[in-house]
This record gives sequence, C-alpha cells and structure tokens, in this order.
Amino acid sequence: MPELWIEGRAVRVPDGSSVLAALQNAGIRTLRQSLSGEPRGALCGMGSCLECRALVDGRVVRTCLTPVRDGQHITLFAEGVHDR
Ligand code: FES
Repeated sequence: MPELWIEGRAVRVPDGSSVLAALQNAGIRTLRQSLSGEPRGALCGMGSCLECRALVDGRVVRTCLTPVRDGQHITLFAEGVHDR
C-alpha cells in the first residue's frame, strides 16, 4: 500500500489508485484556484477538463490520470497551476 505525502501529511492508499482518488479519499475537493481566486477541483475524472491539476513531485499533472507511487509528494494551490 503506497504512502503519499499530501501537503506534508502522510496518507496510505490502495495500490492502483489515482492521485485524485487519494486526494478525494483524504477529503480534499479543492485542488487549486483560478487566476481570479475561484476554487477549482476535478470535474470529468478522465483527463479532459484539466481542473484537477496539482504538483506531484514538482511537476504539474492531471491528478485523475496519475497513478499513485510510494513516496510521492503532492502540493496543492501551487504556483504555475492556474488557468491560462
Ligand atoms: S478531472 Fe478532468 S482532467 Fe482530471
């Protein structure tokens, strides 16, 4: 069972989960803000809407398409994850 770090908090999730599922299981729905400060979170769950972006190990990813790996560090509300 992989252990992730979400905003510095250790969370264990089932193998095969997406990062988005790990976040939602931890009760996290808002992942970032728009440029105007509106809260943003996952909508489609299949890689189309781009609303689930977050930093995973320093890279901007769509969390719904990113599988969990042991030791990942997830950062929410990060610079560079705004709307364009
Ligand atoms: S939830 Fe839409 S791209 Fe991830």
